[in-house]
Amino acid sequence: MPDYEKEKELAARESLKYIQPGMTVGLGSGSTAAHFIRLLGEKVRNGFRIEGIPTSVRTSVLAREHGIPLTDFSQRNRLDVTVDGADEIDRALNLIKGGGGALLREKIVATATDFLIIVADSRKSVDNLGAFPLPVEVIPFGWELVGEQIRDLGAVVKLRMTATSQPFVTAQKNHILDCRFEEIADPERLCESLRRITGVVEHGLFVGLTDLAIVGRGDKTESLTAEGVA
Ligand code: 5RP
Repeated sequence: MPDYEKEKELAARESLKYIQPGMTVGLGSGSTAAHFIRLLGEKVRNGFRIEGIPTSVRTSVLAREHGIPLTDFSQRNRLDVTVDGADEIDRALNLIKGGGGALLREKIVATATDFLIIVADSRKSVDNLGAFPLPVEVIPFGWELVGEQIRDLGAVVKLRMTATSQPFVTAQKNHILDCRFEEIADPERLCESLRRITGVVEHGLFVGLTDLAIVGRGDKTESLTAEGVA
């Protein structure tokens, strides 16, 4: 059985090559991005100067623990590079993200980034998106109606719950609907359909945003662009 933790670390380590001094760096969320933050922190402690913009409260705590100076959108309107994880990556580098519930901030940061790098273990690389339930952030009022409309698009829809059986609440105080489509044949079209539903705040489909995916596979990494192997 592959060592997925090692694959995550290898991918995160490879992504460091793309970070130059003076850059504004988007700091992703999740366990693979956490490897990147730890490794970047080591460089910062050795005098490497960058500033980070975190994609979640948890990431901002982690970044501070590792000594990474942080900034925000009151000081910067673009990021040079962002390193984040994903739940699924297809061959065109479209993604499902939001397994950790941070998809809205992650998408705001991704869309403000010049070069988006996704780091992942080999399980995340898929032929078609959709086996992983697509997280959709919705306002709490009327979430049931939003859920019905997403069901009409072909998904099995579940309101995300916490370990204590309460509806999960995002950083923006919204809920998440986990929508299992099994196979998303046309991600772009699904983005448009979801955008048309009143009450949807954002969804975890990231289409056409990724510049480079670095996937750990065994004791190596694969670097992929939308055109193929980099
Ligand atoms: C959080 C995310 C994460 O990037 C995604 O869930 C991958 O996490 P991990 O690296 O722990 O597998 O989108 O909202």
